Amino acid sequence: MRIILLGAPGAGKGTQAQFLMKTFGIPQISTGDMLRAAIKEGTPLGQQAKAIMDAGKLVSDDIMIGLVKERVAQADCANGFLLDGFPRTIPQADGMHAAGIDVDVVLEFAVPDEVIVERMGGRRVHPGSGRVYHVQYNPPQVAGKDDETGEDLVIRDDDKEATVRKRLAIYHEQTEPLVAYYRKLAEQGKTAFHKIDGTRDVEVISAELGELLS
Ligand code: AP5
Ligand code: ZN
Repeated sequence: MRIILLGAPGAGKGTQAQFLMKTFGIPQISTGDMLRAAIKEGTPLGQQAKAIMDAGKLVSDDIMIGLVKERVAQADCANGFLLDGFPRTIPQADGMHAAGIDVDVVLEFAVPDEVIVERMGGRRVHPGSGRVYHVQYNPPQVAGKDDETGEDLVIRDDDKEATVRKRLAIYHEQTEPLVAYYRKLAEQGKTAFHKIDGTRDVEVISAELGELLS
């Protein structure tokens, strides 16, 4: 199954990706995680992306389309994949479909901005795996430590409130038009589209996704 997770920063894409990966045995392709890994490794891409991400802006469409094309061509994506954070603009969606990368289902996670701002303050991540926690809503078994490795959790550099608000503004301007884009493809029978109420508990949302996709 090939799935796009669409939604604002903090809407719960990465959180539900963890559930979907386990349930359907398909890899998560998080373009944000890929960029953060490049920053950590100090690659030319990472050096270029750091300032853009810290400012809450978007990395260029050409770079992102190239990254995703390369990743989707790898063997573990043969039976499907979860796109998390891509496409993020209409040109990215056009570029992806022009390259022959199509999807079976698009899931839109709807969460009001104020709920997101409140959530992001409590987010903690495991940099090695991309696993996501929340100090209150989705806490790790041991405070500050990843459940599987016991390694330290960190706060993402772009989770400061001012940056979150900037990312939300860019989402509404550049990414939200993809909702209409994919609704139209769904009307033409080219993909399925589901809007998910992302304000409910993590487990309730996972259960709905499990039912919708089985
Ligand atoms: P990226 O890493 O993709 O960030 P994002 O889209 O802004 O989304 P987030 O990862 O912040 O949120 P999420 O929806 O995964 O929420 P999560 O599950 O963590 O991108 C980062 C940057 O990279 C971009 O700003 C851009 O610069 C660049 N970039 C990436 N892709 C790009 C592209 N294609 N083109 C150009 N630039 C690109 O949940 C958030 C918090 O809420 C967590 O603490 C979680 O535990 C909690 N939570 C989740 N669900 C619930 C729930 N149901 N109830 C309560 N709490 C919940
Ligand atoms: Zn994420």
